[in-house]
Amino acid sequence: MPGDKSISHRAIMLSALAEGTSRITGFLEGEDTRATARIFEQMGVRIEVPSPGERVVHGVGLRGLRAPQGVLDCGNSGTAMRLLCGMMAGQAFESTLTGDASLLKRPMRRVTEPLMSMGASIEAAESGTPPLRVHGGQSLCGIDYASPIASAQVKSAVLLGGLYAEGETGVTEPKPTRDYTERMLRAFGWPVEFEPGRVRLPGGHTLRATDIAVPADFSSAAFFIVAAAIVPGSQLRLRGIGMNPRRTGLLHALRAMGANIAEENRRETGGEPVADLVVRHTPLHGIEVPTERVADMIDEFPALFAAAACAEGVTTIRGAEELRVKESDRIAVMATGLRALGVRIEETPDGAMIEGGALHGGTVESSGDHRCAMAFAIAAAVAAAPVVIRDCANVATSFPAFVELGRSCGLAVEPVVR
Ligand code: S3P
Repeated sequence: MPGDKSISHRAIMLSALAEGTSRITGFLEGEDTRATARIFEQMGVRIEVPSPGERVVHGVGLRGLRAPQGVLDCGNSGTAMRLLCGMMAGQAFESTLTGDASLLKRPMRRVTEPLMSMGASIEAAESGTPPLRVHGGQSLCGIDYASPIASAQVKSAVLLGGLYAEGETGVTEPKPTRDYTERMLRAFGWPVEFEPGRVRLPGGHTLRATDIAVPADFSSAAFFIVAAAIVPGSQLRLRGIGMNPRRTGLLHALRAMGANIAEENRRETGGEPVADLVVRHTPLHGIEVPTERVADMIDEFPALFAAAACAEGVTTIRGAEELRVKESDRIAVMATGLRALGVRIEETPDGAMIEGGALHGGTVESSGDHRCAMAFAIAAAVAAAPVVIRDCANVATSFPAFVELGRSCGLAVEPVVR
């Protein structure tokens, strides 16, 4: 499985701001994470690529970035844009963050508001969407931010602004979210105090270069976990998968649905828990997904929709309104697509009720959303006739080898070149 996207972004960002040279292994060779690396090169950071999946980053220190030529293009990546917004707020120069058609529709007030209350000066479009013009040269002050949304991107943007702020910066979350920024800041020598749902750090320290081994991305593995769970006769072993508890909510949900998923060879890679997962097909049944698990599986709902479509009975999802502002409106895209394959789904503002059943063939729109495209490919494995998945080039943002890997374990998927 490819390297973790969240960790790969942060590894580039923090090594660029560190003093000294950091080596990253297991780096995700996806469009999103490469865009982040390109952005730091635009700001004068030298990044070597000794081999695929490896980066050597020559850090320039907290205040060593240079004003970029041109806009900073985050592509499809909300993580890049939101985290960079925090970091750029602390620079001495002005920068403009932009992205693709999907990113230009995504809400940014969730980061610009807390950053502006720290003293940052940021302009967005009237609807609070990108492009973002970040006027550097402001002095930032630490805040204690009670985030209304459970979002690791919001938390991380505030913390990265906090590196440049006077005094202490704290974030409290309504539900704990992935803690990679906190863990990695600590690995780079910044004093950070954190526990699930709460983090605090002081300004005025330095980051010291370190080496980072990126584990395999649980969110990419999720498509293969679900594929093996729903395709009769399957057995699949996935090696070295990142098992941070803030990411593995899908395992709990699938097991509650009756899935057979064993964890073997538990160990640590780069300070993160990893394991090999062995998944064997068993019939699934519908469940009510516990709302307290939603944040821990926020990127896995497209895969869960596919699993629910093949389960006996109804699966109910609630408390997942954030899905409507991801790379696409994932509730609408998954519901429309699965309906086109014969599944009965009722959408609600914050989730859906999915009645499992037999899938027929058809054509579905992934609306440029990488995870929806991959979820449809998995669902298609149990459909009675071929499924055409449209607008799926963005699979390359997180999982460029998806088709090749899928084919290698028996998924009959092929690109349609137009
Ligand atoms: C991410 C946080 C999540 C997730 C995204 C990656 C991160 O977004 O959906 O794919 O790396 O911090 P939110 O913070 O918007 O929930």
